[in-house]
Parts: sequence; C-alpha cells; structure tokens
Amino acid sequence: MSLPDPQALSRETGSRRKAGVEAMFDRIAGRYDLLNHLLSGGTDILWRRRAVRELRLRPGGVYLDLAAGTGDYAFTMLRREPGCRVLAVDLSLGMLAKLGEKTRAAQQTGQISRIRGDGERLPFKPGSLDGLAIGYGIRNFPDKRQALLECGRVLKPGGRLAILELAGIPNPLLRSLFGLYFRFVLPMVGRLVSGDSMAYRYLPASVEQFPGRGPFLAWMREAGFIDARAAELSGGISTLFLGTRES
Ligand SMILES: C[S@@+](CC[C@H](N)C(=O)[O-])C[C@H]1O[C@@H](n2cnc3c(N)ncnc32)[C@H](O)[C@@H]1O
Repeated sequence: MSLPDPQALSRETGSRRKAGVEAMFDRIAGRYDLLNHLLSGGTDILWRRRAVRELRLRPGGVYLDLAAGTGDYAFTMLRREPGCRVLAVDLSLGMLAKLGEKTRAAQQTGQISRIRGDGERLPFKPGSLDGLAIGYGIRNFPDKRQALLECGRVLKPGGRLAILELAGIPNPLLRSLFGLYFRFVLPMVGRLVSGDSMAYRYLPASVEQFPGRGPFLAWMREAGFIDARAAELSGGISTLFLGTRES
C-alpha cells in the first residue's frame, strides 16, 4: 500500500484529510504513547497536567477529551478529579482500541466512555458539557474554525476549554534548533520505533500549516470564548489555548 505524501496530507482538506489522518493514527496506535513520551522527553505529561488544572474540574462534572487518542489527557483529568466523567471522542478506531485497553487496565471503564466521532460534528446536545480538552489534535482537523464553533456549541455557559497544540515556536533561535530536531531526529526515531516515518514527517508539516496563535484566538472568540488567550509552555514548544464559554 502506498502512503500519502506527508506534506500533501497536511495541506489536504475535508474528508480526504480526515481519511488520511485516521489511517495514519490507526497504523501508529500501538507505539503512540512510547514515542510521545520519548520524543518530548516526558514533558508532554507536565503540559497535560498544567492544562488540566485550568479546566477547574469538579466532582460529577462531564468533560470531553476531543481527539482523545490513547487517552492520556482523559487519565490526567481523572487523576486530578476522580469524581468526574470523561467522554473520549476520536476518529481513529485503532487509537480508541488502545484507550480501551488502558481504561480496562486502570479499572476506569465506568468513568471513560469511548466514542468514535469527528471534532467538526460533535454528537452532543448544545450546552451539555462542563468542560472540553483537546491535546495535540486540532492541528489535524481540516476545518479548525468549525471545530471551535462546535466546542462553543456543546459547552455549558461558563464551561472551560483547554487546547494543547504545537502552534509554532516564537523565539527564532529555539525555532531553528527545534526545526533541526523536527526534520532529522523525529522522523528517524519515529521510523525506528513505529516502523512508520510518514507519520513523523507529517507532524512537522502539520505544525507549519497551523494558522498561528492570532487567527486561532480570533476563531475562539468568534465561537463564544470570552477570555481566549494563549500560554507558551517550555518556551512555546507547546501552546496552551484557554477560554471560557460566555454565559
Ligand atoms: C496526536 S494525537 C493526540 C492524542 C491525545 N489527545 C494526546 O494528547 O496524546 C491526535 C489525535 O487526533 C485524532 N483526530 C484527528 N482528526 C480528528 C477529527 N477530525 N476528529 C476527531 N479526532 C481526530 C487522531 O485520530 C489522533 O488520535
């Protein structure tokens, strides 16, 4: 089977992008967690913890982990607030299967519900969720503005949104150094560990296609997030976008 060109996939739109992304995550699901922690040196764990603090979880609350993948954001939420419930939505059945294995191992099947779905068309009623998290997922959505409108639609007034993303590094020196890591180290380690260099060449290509903090924050405001703002984590290697659904 020939794999799509990663640059082309990062520029693809609509259902073709979704199908390519879904197939790619299905292929790497088994090695995703290991590579994630390896390639970020474990800092992804700290970034998710920081983001979860901002969600201000409460017992009995229902939270969405959108583009949940293997569920590291969902598990971080449950560690912080064991009394909440998490709905984990993702396009890739392979990633959701891995999440299922982890949920059973952690004996948290009663607290995490897995749902195959598309972030641009969420299967929830308006104003039905207490908070919403997206970890390194929205970069892959063809229509990010539409996904943000959906986030605004499904959240209750006052509900918090915390999006982690690789949104480009503002500091030119750090950006150049990271560019080398992204172009050379990441695809090589990705290929050695997962046998799939395409996915790890797609990653930097998709970061390049991200619209930038300014336009993204404007879309958040348009979707009803009154205090939309971006916090740079580890010098901007990761960005945390935060907002509260207006009342
Ligand atoms: C890089 S992984 C992130 C997984 C997890 N959130 C984390 O923090 O490690 C991106 C995930 O986004 C999912 N995804 C991509 N496009 C999607 C869409 N349109 N709707 C829902 N999930 C999507 C992929 O299947 C994949 O599991």
